[in-house]
Amino acid sequence: MTEFKLALIQLAVGASKVENVKNAVKFIKEAAGNGAKLVALPECFNSPYGTNYFGEYAESIPGPSTDSLSQAAKDNQVFLVGGSIPESENGKLYNTSTIFNPQGELIGKHRKVHLFDIDVPGKIRFQESEVLTAGNTLTMFNTPFCKVGVGICYDIRFAELAQIYTRRGCNLLIYPGAFNMTTGPAHWELLQRGRALDNQVYVATVSPARDEKASYVAWGHSTVVNPWGEVISTTEHQETIVYSDIDVEYAKQVRSMVPISTQRRDDLYKLQDVTKGNNS
Ligand SMILES: *[C@@H]1O[C@H](CO)[C@@H](O)[C@H](O)[C@H]1NC(C)=O
Ligand SMILES: *[C@@H]1O[C@H](CO)[C@@H](O)[C@H](O)[C@H]1NC(C)=O
Repeated sequence: MTEFKLALIQLAVGASKVENVKNAVKFIKEAAGNGAKLVALPECFNSPYGTNYFGEYAESIPGPSTDSLSQAAKDNQVFLVGGSIPESENGKLYNTSTIFNPQGELIGKHRKVHLFDIDVPGKIRFQESEVLTAGNTLTMFNTPFCKVGVGICYDIRFAELAQIYTRRGCNLLIYPGAFNMTTGPAHWELLQRGRALDNQVYVATVSPARDEKASYVAWGHSTVVNPWGEVISTTEHQETIVYSDIDVEYAKQVRSMVPISTQRRDDLYKLQDVTKGNNS
């Protein structure tokens, strides 16, 4: 199967963690009812965004929020990228994205700030230097449709991260994120189209809905870009679900039309390297 429906839940996040999680579960059900096979939540979906909230809202994994996500994935038979939540472990805090399969099993965990913990289902290990270049851990997971790479927010600014995922066979990259009212209009769509076009993959971003009264005002505009660099689904800033059909065959077509991501660029550059003095 190479075609499937992706749903991005642009959730309105409030002060009550219990309500936030309940609301997320409600939307996951709605998305599945509309045929989505892969559902993604925004960054920090269970807590208001901001360092002053993280301590109070943080929980361990597994914990109440991720238990609810696991159950929702199972009940609705979907792959679920659980946005991110503030995670506490041994007195430390992380921004963590959890990924569940349709059996409700935790199949991946991406911590935004944690250099050395490389967690790749399927037991692929990356070179430490590759990880340090990207400045983040890498998390890929497998679905019956395609491999998917996950980054959180700021991760989308690192071109190398997307490139590594693509070289490892991902056809879709998902970034739960919360850009603000300055960086959103300036960079959100541009970064996403850049990552998609360079790598000839689908790129999806999923933001919380905008709350003008919050201390951190999110841009919204959850979006899907195709491997040709076109925006194929997007929205404004209100709470909603953004749906998109992802067609892995189309990604392959784009690559055969303009075969950039199949060329070994490192080798090409080496041939033309005149900085070592041999050719000057
Ligand atoms: C989560 O990410 C945000 C934005 O990069 C950062 O300000 C915050 O400190 C992070 N929180 C944790 C708990 O790592
Ligand atoms: C958004 O964040 C940037 C830094 O990432 C900051 O310079 C800017 O002032 C923020 N804008 C708003 C409207 O908060």
